[in-house]
Amino acid sequence: SRTQVGIVGAGPAGLVLAKLLALAGVDSVVLEARDRAYVEARVRAGVLEAPTVELLRGMGVAGRLDREGMPHTGISLRFAEAPGAPAADHRIDFADLVGTGITVYGQQEVVKDLLADRLDDAGLPVEFGVSGVALHDVDTDAPSVTYADADGAEHVLRCDVIAGCDGFHGVSRPLVAPDVAERVYPFSWLGVLAKAAPTTDELVYAHHDDGFALYSMRSPEVTRLYVQVPNDTRPADWSDARIWDALHTRLACEGFTMNEGEFLEKPSVTPMRSMVASPMRRGRLFLAGDAAHIVPPTGAKGMNLAIADVRVLAEAVVRALRDGDTGGLDSYSDTCLRRVWRAEHFSWFMTSMLHRFDPATEGGDAFGVGLQRSQLRYTVTSRAAATSLAENYVGLPHGAV
Ligand code: FAD
Ligand code: DHB
Repeated sequence: SRTQVGIVGAGPAGLVLAKLLALAGVDSVVLEARDRAYVEARVRAGVLEAPTVELLRGMGVAGRLDREGMPHTGISLRFAEAPGAPAADHRIDFADLVGTGITVYGQQEVVKDLLADRLDDAGLPVEFGVSGVALHDVDTDAPSVTYADADGAEHVLRCDVIAGCDGFHGVSRPLVAPDVAERVYPFSWLGVLAKAAPTTDELVYAHHDDGFALYSMRSPEVTRLYVQVPNDTRPADWSDARIWDALHTRLACEGFTMNEGEFLEKPSVTPMRSMVASPMRRGRLFLAGDAAHIVPPTGAKGMNLAIADVRVLAEAVVRALRDGDTGGLDSYSDTCLRRVWRAEHFSWFMTSMLHRFDPATEGGDAFGVGLQRSQLRYTVTSRAAATSLAENYVGLPHGAV
């Protein structure tokens, strides 16, 4: 079969791209290794930047997001001024500093909304459960994708352009950029989703001697929590009681109480990594989202960056296929990489400032800890420093980087 754009992967990148192309009258086929129930249930990111929300609204897929998403106009950084001192909250007021905010809405809810729009409303397909995906002739103007469908039947999909939106473990990146710039951090996050009403209206990022903790939420009934753990951590080694104990210790702050509740899914451990593949293009194959770059989750940038990439890609593809002008495709990688590196820096900055590093290493020795404390204090006492955090966190306008 034939299509204009072959999209590998039905995560936020692949699905937003498919929708933007459909709105411009460009047809695409979306190939996804998993089934619909799996991608709709996969719990991951939860923070939408202001430009992401605006884009989804402009695409006409934000009805439920506008009803159920939780607008936040700030976050708190929670830390002690000196070793042994009690922790205090320092609010970063996004509304005051940069005049906008973020929206808390689960990534899988975005995915559900985009799938409902494509499958149920537009009647367009997504090929779920594909296997053996391979990309061919990407250096020519007639690339193709071969794969087996869920029943095992083999297919050849001929395209004008292939979009590699297949995430960190996909097949696209090795073809484009075998060498990458990367940093692996000496810690991971253990994440839980609890049936417990949040006790704050906003996210709390806590720096503590035992390690970082993050207090987040999904709804008025569900709390999302993370704790820093060592890299070799097996979720089975952390009983529910141990997780709550770590959360209570690290999030302790005068006047703060935390509701406990049953975990709604098994605790998961996410390693922390920064990675940038460049260029994000080879011939007719374009990488977008986690296929091209990874950020540690501390800056809440991963899904937002994936969506920013495909906005640029959709415009470039439409220009090339409709007007025969390949200028946008030629500048795609450079345009995206500017925003990508800004997000990489911000995510590295948040990660370095907030986590506990091994005292035997540069980050965690007395000098490293002194720098962290100074940076935390500067961030919450200087309007210039707080504004820098705020404008990065809520998301620089698309095209502004
Ligand atoms: P993905 O969402 O990974 O989508 C890629 C899709 O491609 C998947 O559906 C996959 O099944 C499919 N696929 C893969 N290989 C193939 C193939 N060969 N053929 C066909 N389909 C294929 N970010 C945050 O900001 N905060 C968080 O708390 C957070 N937690 C995370 C936890 C985990 C475990 C992971 C993996 C990521 C997390 N992220 C988080 C990052 C964020 O979720 C990603 O940046 C975001 O999902 C990127 O979207 P994407 O569409 O590029 O990739
Ligand atoms: C969430 C995840 C993040 O990585 C983050 O920085 C903030 C919130 C969340 O899952 O709610």
